[in-house]
Amino acid sequence: MPKITIDGRVLEFAPGQTIIQVAQANGIEIPHYCYHPGLSVAGNCRICMVEVEKTPKPQIACYVQATDGMVVHTKSAQATEARAGVMEMLLVNHPLDCPICDQAGECKLQDYAFDFGHPTTRTPVEKTHLPKNVPFGAKIVYDGERCIKCTRCVRFTDEITQTHELSMGARGDKEMVIMTSKGEFTTPYAMNIIDLCPVGALTSKDFRFESRVWFMDFTESVCTGCARGCNVTVGARGGRVLRMTPRENQDVNRWWMCDAGRLGYGHANAPTRLTTPRVRTSARAGEFAEVGWEDAIDAAVEALRDAARGGVLADAGATLEELFLLKAVAGRGDLKYASRVGQDEDGFLIVNEKGANQRGAEALGFARAAAPAPAALLFVERGDAVPKALRDGADPVVAFVTDGADVPPTARVVFPLPTWAERDGLLANVDGIVQPIRRCRAAGPRDLRAPLEVLEEIRLGLDAAATPWTHADVVAAVRGAVAPAGLAVPEVEFAPAAPRTVAAPASRTR
Ligand code: SF4
Ligand code: SF4
Ligand code: FES
Repeated sequence: MPKITIDGRVLEFAPGQTIIQVAQANGIEIPHYCYHPGLSVAGNCRICMVEVEKTPKPQIACYVQATDGMVVHTKSAQATEARAGVMEMLLVNHPLDCPICDQAGECKLQDYAFDFGHPTTRTPVEKTHLPKNVPFGAKIVYDGERCIKCTRCVRFTDEITQTHELSMGARGDKEMVIMTSKGEFTTPYAMNIIDLCPVGALTSKDFRFESRVWFMDFTESVCTGCARGCNVTVGARGGRVLRMTPRENQDVNRWWMCDAGRLGYGHANAPTRLTTPRVRTSARAGEFAEVGWEDAIDAAVEALRDAARGGVLADAGATLEELFLLKAVAGRGDLKYASRVGQDEDGFLIVNEKGANQRGAEALGFARAAAPAPAALLFVERGDAVPKALRDGADPVVAFVTDGADVPPTARVVFPLPTWAERDGLLANVDGIVQPIRRCRAAGPRDLRAPLEVLEEIRLGLDAAATPWTHADVVAAVRGAVAPAGLAVPEVEFAPAAPRTVAAPASRTR
């Protein structure tokens, strides 16, 4: 293997790798704006300049390929002076409106100004003004003054979606991004340009002015909008999910996610969410009393013991562990799952199957519900995933539902179900890749109990001789149960007492 020396470290590289790729592969950070591993190299921002021995001028690390024997300095006086010059130029016309910018706290312009910037401006002339608050379709807002013209957004629509809605317009200090399409994106992946934008020039209408990012909790999880299972970071604050952004996983979603998945967290913040368990108080349907969790569990044990039937109807967004326990509690009857099937599969990320764990459900012996049929247990996170006719036909004894509107009126006991953003568990995606969703501590109503815990207590209540299972025990049992279907369950640690993270996720802007 050829070798390059970066900051005194001798590193092997594969022919064709650029300096920044070799550096990143070895944990050496070289500042960059326009470079992104998923896009072509533009080489226009110049912030990645490094000193290369035996060359007269600094070189851009995102474009120059490593060669055998090359010696690079990323922190020398020549490199840092070059970057300071770039920062000074980029800030000449920048509005410096960080106090009201959504990107503040996770902005590369802020980070590099802190690292390399001049403390004062030397420009005596008035700043050039450009259009601000420009709608780019219904979901994105563009600010021409914050834009550093890195062209990441333009290259995304040219190279990744190939829908070409964006272009650079005008020249010199009047240059800005323009929409070439009339007002709306045709791609369902447009909002990825917000994450790609290294500064606050592209912001999400959905997230705009919702929160300073340093007040939010961030949790690594998975989108449950369809069976692709794009890896995401969920941002939440004060019981509400405020943002989802894609997280890199080269085997699943690379760096991207679709707009529908990104915005598909509304049910987690719905004012109609069920927050306390309920027990039916009379023979008349729909008459419930709110009770404590232990009383509801006792009532559920009694109701299931009395019930002449078993069977489960579950949202295919239920985790492997939840399905396993649903089956253990009421598996004497039919095991059915329900999920939406769309018609928007596009060969990129979006798939028609919307049940996030449909593969997992089938591996555990659940079959798609084709017609209404009775079931002792009902499990519904998203009302639109389990059609009302199926819910009514299930006529469940015990139900787990997220929204008050989905409470089955004839159920004996109803438990509030935390959303995917509030639960730990495993999902098998459309390709059979098993991935964890994780509980976001700042999302959802307070004091909801995990369905896994509730189901385990019910199981123990129904069978006094049963051995108690921990989450790890259930995962081990699931691992054995789904192996014949070709699903490999990875070793995953779920940390109930995970410390709060307030730092912005590094993956937000690569
Ligand atoms: S809007 Fe953002 S991503 Fe697009 S060119 Fe400007 S700075 Fe780059
Ligand atoms: S493709 Fe599917 S999993 Fe990925 S973001 Fe969209 S809805 Fe979510
Ligand atoms: S990151 Fe290298 S020129 Fe922009």
